[in-house]
Amino acid sequence: MKNVLVTGGAGFIGSNFIQYILDQQKDILLLNLDLLTYAGNLENLRAVENNPRYHFVKGDIRNRTLVNQLFDEYHFDTVVHFAAESHVDRSITEPEIFLSTNVLGTQVLLDAAKVHWNLEPDNKYCREYRPGVRYLQVSTDEVYGALGKTGMFTEETSLSPNSPYSASKASADLLVRAYYKTYGLPINITRCSNNYGSYQFPEKLIPLMIHNAQNNIPLPVYGDGMQIRDWLHVKDHCAAIHTVLEKGVLGEIYNIGGNNEKANLEIVKLILSQLNQSEELITHVKDRPGHDRRYAIDNIKITTQLGWKPAYTFEQGIHETIQWYLDNTEWVSRITTGDYQNYYDQMYGTNK
Ligand code: NAD
Ligand code: DAU
Repeated sequence: MKNVLVTGGAGFIGSNFIQYILDQQKDILLLNLDLLTYAGNLENLRAVENNPRYHFVKGDIRNRTLVNQLFDEYHFDTVVHFAAESHVDRSITEPEIFLSTNVLGTQVLLDAAKVHWNLEPDNKYCREYRPGVRYLQVSTDEVYGALGKTGMFTEETSLSPNSPYSASKASADLLVRAYYKTYGLPINITRCSNNYGSYQFPEKLIPLMIHNAQNNIPLPVYGDGMQIRDWLHVKDHCAAIHTVLEKGVLGEIYNIGGNNEKANLEIVKLILSQLNQSEELITHVKDRPGHDRRYAIDNIKITTQLGWKPAYTFEQGIHETIQWYLDNTEWVSRITTGDYQNYYDQMYGTNK
């Protein structure tokens, strides 16, 4: 891994990954291609912006000309594809952009990788590629759908996405798989559970609840709040992706998760308690349509075959994360004083 294209590197996980990988590997040049949508924030990358091994291009993964130019110029040997529309609630009100970015954007990247890496790009039967190249699709456990009270998602679980977001991610996964089967493109797919940590956009559960609790705003819990998510610290996700880039068997899918199943209400109460705020702030609101009840990742494959394991306990990670948001209120308020307020009013009906 020498010349790496990271897409969506100004978002939550991408920006954590860029900082992580530049720290871990001194011999790489990393290009971050990001459109800077509402979720992209270059402030997340202040620590690396002057690093000569880091370059940034503002642009759209769906722009075929631009993507091909970047492949020509940078001779990438690795693609780590994070860029996406990532918020389930937004996908319920505006599905189209999810299909466009998450599916068609992925296809543009796959095509560029195939053309630039294949040894005979004009020969549709050629399955040989430059040595050492790899395309990694960052996917999600949501492609598997929802679980009942028991069971876990393995890599063999059939895809059964329930939201426009997860359907778009599952479609992208199927395209990546098809490029492996049809053209032999060297790929991996990773499917991670819910991430938490620094720089997460405050439309997502944990940063939203911290922000509201701090500001005495009601905490909107969907339905009964007993939906279960399997939480993983974002730095553990970054380390898992790094492990797959180094040791993953080409063509394989790897689930990533840390065995931390928690009900939403439990997380909300924990946040209130760390902030010394009253549970009276909890407000049960109308449930998310099609809301997945439970996710749980079986991580046996990546832990036993590749030797990755999470470094953070949930207790340590969530405590540090809450503290990070308390220490970085300016980062949060630069977001929450912009377009975010319009989104929040429409989403939670607070403009009425
Ligand atoms: P995010 O919404 O915080 O960031 C997405 C980034 O993609 C933003 O910087 C945005 O500007 C960029 N982007 C969007 N459309 C683009 C386009 N057309 N061209 C270029 N850049 C574009 O998302 P995140 O939470 O960091 O998630 C990153 C990836 O990880 C996504 O693919 C998501 O599906 C996956 N994932 C997320 C989680 C999670 O818990 N957040 C868990 C598993 C997998
Ligand atoms: O599982 C991985 C997925 O995790 C990623 O693929 C997605 O990109 C990421 O957004 C996340 O999806 P979720 O829908 O699980 O995350 P979110 O933070 O939106 O919601 C977490 C849970 O909290 C979910 O059950 C809905 C609930 N929730 C969320 C919000 C924003 C509430 O009860 N109230 C809220 O206001």
